Amino acid sequence: MTSPLRLGIAGIGTVGTGTIRILQRHADLLEARGGRPIEIKAVSSRNRNKDRGVRLGEYEWEDDPVALARRDDIDVFVELIGGEDGPAKDAVEAAIEAGHDVVTANKALLAHHGQALAERAEAQGAVLRFEAAVAGGIPCVKALTEGLAGNEITRVMGVMNGTCNYILTRMESAGLTYDQVFAEASELGYLEADPTLDVGGIDAGHKLALLASIAFGTKVDFDGVALEGIERIKIEDIRHAADMGFAVKLLGVAQMTGRGLEARMSPCLVPQTSPLGQLDGATNMVVLDGDAVGQVVLRGAGAGEGPTASAVLSDIVDIARGNRVSTFGQPAARLVPARRAEAATPAPFYLRMVLTDRPGALAKIAARLGEAGISIDRMRQYDHTEGSAPVLIVTHRAMRRALDEAIDAMADTGVLEGEIVALRIEDV
Ligand code: NDP
Ligand code: HSE
Repeated sequence: MTSPLRLGIAGIGTVGTGTIRILQRHADLLEARGGRPIEIKAVSSRNRNKDRGVRLGEYEWEDDPVALARRDDIDVFVELIGGEDGPAKDAVEAAIEAGHDVVTANKALLAHHGQALAERAEAQGAVLRFEAAVAGGIPCVKALTEGLAGNEITRVMGVMNGTCNYILTRMESAGLTYDQVFAEASELGYLEADPTLDVGGIDAGHKLALLASIAFGTKVDFDGVALEGIERIKIEDIRHAADMGFAVKLLGVAQMTGRGLEARMSPCLVPQTSPLGQLDGATNMVVLDGDAVGQVVLRGAGAGEGPTASAVLSDIVDIARGNRVSTFGQPAARLVPARRAEAATPAPFYLRMVLTDRPGALAKIAARLGEAGISIDRMRQYDHTEGSAPVLIVTHRAMRRALDEAIDAMADTGVLEGEIVALRIEDV
């Protein structure tokens, strides 16, 4: 019989439990697909006595994930602890030094240390795989590294944080405020332990940085992703967008421009009738544009026990098969530094602001836009009260830099009440 592939699994939380369940439930199927039995040798978590609703008695236990990573009776170290540093990083580094292959679902770890870890793994002859780290159950890493390997990728785009998509779509469908839906998401257990990772766009930014690296052959550059969260989106933004035929989405876009790699994760308006505009609830969507294939749209569950574990198993079965694809689709040492091109492509923008209701206020705002070379497409004053005038402006195509200059200049007009919300209208 072919020798089994022996796993050490660290982290038996949502994803770890799901992974163990699939390994137990589908042992025969996985053996047939992987060409050899796949068995769990040992596991590690903090609390040995916790009931996790899954059989663990047959596996050896390690209190320390680093000790598990160093064991010489495992072939693959499966890191499902999480966190950009700390035990997850220590254990992955230890596993690589021991020459083990590594499978992880940890986008934070890879967004910050993926380049160094991939280079070290390759030097050791080990593979480091991370399908579960991006868009949960959607096989977008495999699609980019393998299925679309014959294409020059022109753009990677998508909704990659289910929590934000849940919040935005629920605000729209139930007419609830951001704060109300945030509380709901928290009760449902959707939010990360640190919710700013979700609503601040950081978690989705991690994922975009990883996909951009594969797509454009560039070193992982999370700091190069222009991040903006959804915290400032109000129910009226959702309603105005809907009135104009748009939906608000936390959208990631990475594209190679003449000036370099433009990567941003920010709330945008997309046509309601587009696949992205119709994406409801905690679902994710990844849209890949290749020069030969055209557009490929992948949609599915971006989180949760089953979907994320499904992606972990995809990497494990690949390793069992001997499919040793490089972490980012080509040797890590060949990846080039990303030349950052911030806001390199123009777009129309949606602006919402509240003005002090006095003669000439609107004219001052329009003048600042004009001085920055930005032309107004549509403008409307709504829900007018005695002292203040909420105003909605849609611009013609403009560069974000010019818009930011205009917004800065508006601060000196003395007619603005509060902050301006500026949302890009994305061409999807
Ligand atoms: P959980 O918090 O549910 O599980 C984390 C596990 O790690 C727990 O079992 C915990 O142990 C264990 N752990 C924490 N610290 C240590 C330590 N020092 N030593 C050993 N074990 C430790 O997280 P998830 O399962 O949700 O997430 C795991 C990874 O998967 C993360 O990187 C996450 O970003 C990623 N991911 C998660 C998704 C999801 O839907 N949940 C989706 C996509 C990716 P104990 O139980 O004993 O406290
Ligand atoms: N917090 C993430 C989300 C989990 O909401 O999509 C999956 O990475």
